[in-house]
Amino acid sequence: MSRIAYVNGSYVPTADAFVHINDRGFQFADGVYEGITVRRKQMIDLEPHLDRLWRSMRELKMDAPMARGPMRIVLRELIRRNRISDGFLYLQVTRGEAVRDHAFPEFSIPSFVATCRRLNLAGVRARATGGIAVSTQPDIRWGRCDVKSTSLLPNILAKQAAREAGGFEAVLVDNDGYVTEGSSTNMWIVTHNGVLKTRSTEDNILAGITRARVKSIAKKLQIQVEEESFSVNEALSAQEMFLTSSTSCAMPIVELDGQKIGDGTPGPVAKRLVEAYFDFMDD
Ligand code: PDD
Repeated sequence: MSRIAYVNGSYVPTADAFVHINDRGFQFADGVYEGITVRRKQMIDLEPHLDRLWRSMRELKMDAPMARGPMRIVLRELIRRNRISDGFLYLQVTRGEAVRDHAFPEFSIPSFVATCRRLNLAGVRARATGGIAVSTQPDIRWGRCDVKSTSLLPNILAKQAAREAGGFEAVLVDNDGYVTEGSSTNMWIVTHNGVLKTRSTEDNILAGITRARVKSIAKKLQIQVEEESFSVNEALSAQEMFLTSSTSCAMPIVELDGQKIGDGTPGPVAKRLVEAYFDFMDD
């Protein structure tokens, strides 16, 4: 748990960290967020995360709670005050406090809260050695999944259903049988030609920061990447499958709906990408 949180201008013990009941984040999930991995006290891909946060705010016509410079300072200070080496920074901006009415308030001050907790990256790496099982779930989300909104009810229901089915993550599937992304991750397969396939960010998914990083790492390793949708059947017959996210880094998937992917162990391409991603973080 984060011991010290940042709440609208103050650093406070988490036990005393509150927002108003009329905050539109609480009332309507009228908010956006980011999750940033901290590795050895350094924020991984901070600038792309801030770019995405500003884009999310712009898309929802939400004012920024502060400029980027001060926000970087707040985040560094949170890492320091919580004495975090490997951790996860959570940032949330909402439209602020206003009398409940669906339409935007004429005036409100955006609310900004941030926390930083420990993240066991050695544990993440250990999990990647064995790989994970996942379960397909229908993607019942809205048409603006490019916005990193705190409105995550379909995502949490899918994740819970996957957990109840014995999976670590839900693989969200659209009405045509194509994989969109995970409930909190981006999905990839490795085809029999050794090509990486992942859905295009133009196709109603979140533009994952880890996805972009792994794409550029793959290019450096001369592994071909195609940004194209793949179906559940393609995934089931793929050579390999893996997911990416800030908290899971690159994570091999060895089982989909109880069926083995490849030989049921992490494949060579995913293993190489896990290594390369940790090397990138440790650089
Ligand atoms: N989830 N897709 C969805 C729907 C996500 O919520 C996330 C991130 C990702 C991966 O994005 P990134 O590589 O930038 O972490 C993809 C975060 C970790 C969360 O909700 O906690």
